[in-house]
Amino acid sequence: MTIQKATNITWHEGNITREDRERLLQQKGAVLWFTGLSGSGKSTLALAVEERLFERGHLCFVLDGDNIRHGLNKNLGFSPEDREENIRRIGEVGKLFSDAGVIAMTAFISPYRQDRDKARSLLAEGSFVEIYVQVPLEVAEQRDPKGLYKKARAGEIKEFTGISAPYEEPRSPEIVVNTGELDLEQSVDKVIRYLEDRDIVRKA
Ligand code: ADX
Repeated sequence: MTIQKATNITWHEGNITREDRERLLQQKGAVLWFTGLSGSGKSTLALAVEERLFERGHLCFVLDGDNIRHGLNKNLGFSPEDREENIRRIGEVGKLFSDAGVIAMTAFISPYRQDRDKARSLLAEGSFVEIYVQVPLEVAEQRDPKGLYKKARAGEIKEFTGISAPYEEPRSPEIVVNTGELDLEQSVDKVIRYLEDRDIVRKA
């Protein structure tokens, strides 16, 4: 539990609501939470969904683990505590984006179920869409786009997810995308169909 440190602070409500912004943008603000092993295809899929939605006139924003760790979360490593704080901050940032009416997509391993559930609890029912980007470890390891699995096997990287640190699979994600079985287009279609069915975006 993160404690509330500051005292004497007051919440101010603005006159423009989330619904006002959603009307302006003609979409529902939401957090699409991509989770999965390193090399599962989270970032690739999130960026491809963003591109497809952008072409259709929707405003999205991708928050990506490797990128955010260069800035906002540069003071965090990969211990369980640091990963928890990493995900806590992203949950809060995702909430801000969705309050702004934006469709935020987060591409973080987010290996702990409890941390993902906390991020979910910040949002209204239906606004948090957990997308499990599922591939067998062997497939992710074979892809090894950054050469990190090789280093982890050689003991050069400690606490590497899937090798020497855990990944807790989602129990009831809204969407499962198996990037070993579907190609990128099919994976994007699956996500977009879900968003259309839930009226997060209008049908094309
Ligand atoms: S998370 O576990 O805290 O959600 P996050 O998604 O931000 O992780 O960062 C994961 C990325 O950091 C990986 O895709 C990989 O490029 C890199 N990385 C570096 N060290 C590790 C490690 N020990 N475990 C997992 N990923 C690592």
